Amino acid sequence: MQLSTKHLLGIKDLLPSDISLILSTAQQFKEVLQRPIKKVPSLRDVTIVNLFYENSTRTRISFELAEKRLSADTINFAASSSSAKKGETLLDTVHNILSMKVDMVVMRHSASGAPHFLSQHLPNTAIVNAGDGINEHPTQALLDAFSIVEKTGSLEGRKVLLIGDIMHSRVALSNMYLLKKMGAEVMLSGPPTLIPKYVQQAFDVQVEYNLKKALKWCDVANVLRIQLERQNQVLFSSLREYNLAYGVTRKLLNEVNKEILIMHPGPINRGVEIDSDVADSNQSVILKQVENGVAVRMAVLYLLSGKKELSH
Ligand code: CP
Repeated sequence: MQLSTKHLLGIKDLLPSDISLILSTAQQFKEVLQRPIKKVPSLRDVTIVNLFYENSTRTRISFELAEKRLSADTINFAASSSSAKKGETLLDTVHNILSMKVDMVVMRHSASGAPHFLSQHLPNTAIVNAGDGINEHPTQALLDAFSIVEKTGSLEGRKVLLIGDIMHSRVALSNMYLLKKMGAEVMLSGPPTLIPKYVQQAFDVQVEYNLKKALKWCDVANVLRIQLERQNQVLFSSLREYNLAYGVTRKLLNEVNKEILIMHPGPINRGVEIDSDVADSNQSVILKQVENGVAVRMAVLYLLSGKKELSH
């Protein structure tokens, strides 16, 4: 089986069969990662550059680890210590890197559409979007989906609540695309100023501004970070007010009194969108999501490489 696309630019471009293929391949790689020797030779002759123009902890380390587990050669590029600081353009930087015989590019950028721009200029090099501005974060949505399936058995009919800063969240957009393609029900909750009016119709999702009612509805709650770095106007009164109305607290979950899987893509703002005694509880799969990210990214890189045999 093969993916229908040469790049992973967003979940928007994937078919449900692509998503199923990535998740089932990730399951095979997860089994590899349980072994004493967690490495396979699948991408032994492949060189991958991790091009990070924006800060990252989880995604950058997870891609690098996935590449190493697949035996690929890996190059890490941080824009902050590169010649981008001397005025070199994105395209010149990438052309220079590719001239050194690099096969795949994993890229994070603060500009929405940056990986799409690269893919138009480099149609023969696989580009993987590791998060572009407020657009998409496809591997995050894939690892979220993998974690939901692992814990609950399926996505079909699952009631998933996305809480918080929907407007600035690439995780929210990728999750909405993926969950709707795979037959889940989606509800959004958060301040009206952080939920764009168009999404309800565009994605066929529900909106519930009362967080307690929304939590009573869901099986899974994916709590999003307030993206202060992407907000250039005041969209809610204060972080304390936000926590009072939309913070996922132990007190609120006790009142709801329902078994809900708690997720968060990280990084967490403890005491703002989620309290520590929820984030660190048995209900939370936040660190499981991070663990699953390596297997999911191994699957994405392996499938985009076009290799025919999954070498065990
Ligand atoms: N979830 C996520 O993308 O985290 P990082 O920004 O640390 O990569």
